[in-house]
Amino acid sequence: MPINPVLADSVCHHYQHRFGSRPTLFCAPGRINLLGEHTDHNQGFVLPAAIDKEALFAIDLNHSDHFHLVSIDMNDEYSSTSTAATNKNWANYLLGVMAQVQKLGVKLPGFNLVFASDIPMGAGISSSAALECGLLYALNTLLNLNLSRKTMAKMAQTAEQEYAGVQCGIMDQFAVLHGQQGQVIRLDCRNLDYTLHPLNMASHSLVLCHSGVEHALAATGYNTRRSECQLGVDTFNKYSNKPPIAALRDLTLAHLALVKPYLSTVVLRRCTYVIEENLRVAAACEALDQGNLAKLGQLMFATHKGMSEQFEASCEELDALVNIAKTCTGVLGARIMGGGFGGCSLNLVNNLHLEAFRHEVTEHYYNKRDIEPKIIVTQPNHGARQIQR
Ligand code: GLA
Repeated sequence: MPINPVLADSVCHHYQHRFGSRPTLFCAPGRINLLGEHTDHNQGFVLPAAIDKEALFAIDLNHSDHFHLVSIDMNDEYSSTSTAATNKNWANYLLGVMAQVQKLGVKLPGFNLVFASDIPMGAGISSSAALECGLLYALNTLLNLNLSRKTMAKMAQTAEQEYAGVQCGIMDQFAVLHGQQGQVIRLDCRNLDYTLHPLNMASHSLVLCHSGVEHALAATGYNTRRSECQLGVDTFNKYSNKPPIAALRDLTLAHLALVKPYLSTVVLRRCTYVIEENLRVAAACEALDQGNLAKLGQLMFATHKGMSEQFEASCEELDALVNIAKTCTGVLGARIMGGGFGGCSLNLVNNLHLEAFRHEVTEHYYNKRDIEPKIIVTQPNHGARQIQR
């Protein structure tokens, strides 16, 4: 079932009106990340979940060599016989995964696609991964490619790197494809082994507060952060006299201290954050398994501090949102979520105080920044799938 039947009807009707036939329907969600930020590109651990905000795809093969891509949200379309990148950014996410399919040696047949999404863009909840994974999942089904979800996640990650220019890790695409209702995914980003952990939200809610600052990962510090982490690894391997490591995931704080004189203060801060964040993911899994949401909340606050002061991937608006959350009754934890430099905060809020939280955050943020934050209550949900109608 789609979460948003109105959106599902809209893409189907639009498709039938535009192309005159009945499409097949697929959906792919956005994702949240409870903990483990910027650990994926260091081969570490993350704790994401697919959510109940989705992109919907009406699609069918058209027996030609033309790809017709129609975005309802952008009120725009793109047609081509080629998967080369274009100056329409929204189309590049789709062309990126189509190119990955071609790389498998598959002759990609023409198709028509109409899509729409209720995942806010630039909010750090992976609207782009939803587009990539949704189309790839649909092509996998329509063309009987038999690709596993893991393989599709890797292909979609490569598409993002090659067509959006973000040297992203695997977390977003993996979560969008592997999500399960009511569960978070503890993913080892080195070997892609994962375990599911139940998130019992009977008494609390996960609440996203969108700062209104759209993060543009490629244009900001994401790739710089990634190279700073790599510099930490290279420096350790050059000066430590210890066996070489492949990624920051292999480093302890004690071992990092061995090469302190050779690291700039910036790189030292970045590496310390990543090592501590991996430890927080392990602690968060324990807290989840014990149903200890208070502990989880404390870890979220600690992650925010690390993202803001050590990794320097927060911004004034997100710091303001988290500081406001700290003053609200019933908030167990709050932190910037996703790649950073804008987007959303993720808050763990007692249901009894949800309405007061909504009200207070809106009022205080408006007073500080002159914009109303968009507030979204969300929960873990299924990953990309076909919708039967
Ligand atoms: C973005 C990237 C992910 C991950 C997060 C930060 O969402 O796409 O791979 O690195 O930032 O945790």
